[in-house]
Amino acid sequence: MPKLTIDGKEITVEEGTTVFEAARQMKTSIPHFCYHSKLSIAGNCRMCLVEIEKMPKPQISCNTVAQEGMVVHTQTDNVKALQKNVLEFILINHPIDCPVCDQAGECKLQKYYMNYSVGDSEFNESKVKKPKKVDLGPNVMLDDERCILCTRCVRFCDEISKTGELCVTNRGDRSTLRTFPGKKLDNKYSLNTVDICPVGALTSKPFRFQQRVWFLKSAPSICTGCATGCNIEINHNDGKVFRYQTRKNEAVNECWTCDEGRLSYTFINESRLIRPLLKTANGLEEVTKTQALAAATEALQKCSAEQIVFLGSAYESNENNAALKKLANNLGVTALQYAFHEVENPSSDDFLIKADKNPNRAGVSNLGFAEFSGELTGKTVLAMERISASQIEKIRSQKPKYLILLSSHQSPACELADVVLPVCTFAEQKGSFINFQERIQKFEVALAPKGQMQTAWQFLQEIAQSLGHAWAITSPEPLLKEFFNLTYEEIGEQGKLLE
Ligand code: SF4
Ligand code: SF4
Ligand code: FES
Repeated sequence: MPKLTIDGKEITVEEGTTVFEAARQMKTSIPHFCYHSKLSIAGNCRMCLVEIEKMPKPQISCNTVAQEGMVVHTQTDNVKALQKNVLEFILINHPIDCPVCDQAGECKLQKYYMNYSVGDSEFNESKVKKPKKVDLGPNVMLDDERCILCTRCVRFCDEISKTGELCVTNRGDRSTLRTFPGKKLDNKYSLNTVDICPVGALTSKPFRFQQRVWFLKSAPSICTGCATGCNIEINHNDGKVFRYQTRKNEAVNECWTCDEGRLSYTFINESRLIRPLLKTANGLEEVTKTQALAAATEALQKCSAEQIVFLGSAYESNENNAALKKLANNLGVTALQYAFHEVENPSSDDFLIKADKNPNRAGVSNLGFAEFSGELTGKTVLAMERISASQIEKIRSQKPKYLILLSSHQSPACELADVVLPVCTFAEQKGSFINFQERIQKFEVALAPKGQMQTAWQFLQEIAQSLGHAWAITSPEPLLKEFFNLTYEEIGEQGKLLE
């Protein structure tokens, strides 16, 4: 275990640790473009130069292994001058089109320019012009002249997605990033290249030109695309979600997400139900919350416990399913099933993507709900979405006596319902899911609910109160405590494996 000195402070590190990583462990930040902790070392950007005593020339810290007795300087005037010069060199052919660049506000070039290089360029020659719109694949567009050829994206495709579509061709200032002939950047994880591109060269087609990043607000959350539960940030503005960004969790998704999950945010913005609906002679009609709740309560009151089925949901949070279980306990209902979302030929792989496209099957099962069996004939059913097409068909053929549905969307299931209560998606509430590893993970509120939307647990509380049960819950946490014996603090930012 070598001991070295960085900027006057001693540190002992594992054998094989680089100077860059040793500095990082001491919270000393060294500017860099090509280094990425999950990729092999390329050492091509030269931005991480440091001085090391007894070495004749400055060294790149990302590819220099720490040795016993090394004395490293990262902050001297000489190091700063080197970094300024490297940056000036990198910027020679850069178009400096920050005002129209999607990366503006999140760009390492901008950040380091302000930190190390503020001043006019001494480059008076003409810049090399390159195409600004190279269609690399279904989700990714390349602005060639913004690329600094750090090869992070190339290494991602070689080492992480293992699809190897990208390469750098040509020499010198004619070098360009390209896909291999006949190939497209078309893998299940392609949008991670946009995340790791340190500049604005790779842009996400769905996100480009949609928002300036400084207008976006962010909330930590969990992807609902499958049972993995990748950690994400929901980026939103003016009540609309614009993108998911990966949030690091070494135990779940490291720092990656799949494209399918990353682009699944659109469902939050589309076809939302914001008012309760009640079936009338003219079909489903918008009604007040009081009318809808009265109808739901009356339907439940008319039945004995044996005539009622509660359908929880593998797509809903632990807290909302727990509220349904609590109401079942109040009413003596024992028929507890759960609906789930399913697709034809679901994608899956041995990295992140799971064929189970529900974020919380483990959570709803943990509460004692059994998988949907479809025995609903003559019953009064209280159900939460999402309900797959085949389950909807079963409900249609079984003809329940009365269907009360808690739904966030105008969905095919709504057409079968007698009363529909408009509920929040996970993006409009706080809650938790349990992923396939049995890791419970929490998510925060990103958007304010619109119209008459409420969380499912709020509607269920109102039904319980109308039926004479004394609930007084003002947040989802008491439900988490009562049914999972946990607090949000105990779950923490990275989740908690259930014992
Ligand atoms: S596109 Fe971005 S990540 Fe890829 S080589 Fe260029 S600068 Fe690096
Ligand atoms: S692997 Fe699953 S949880 Fe992760 S981003 Fe993809 S769909 Fe979402
Ligand atoms: S980060 Fe070290 S050379 Fe690029």
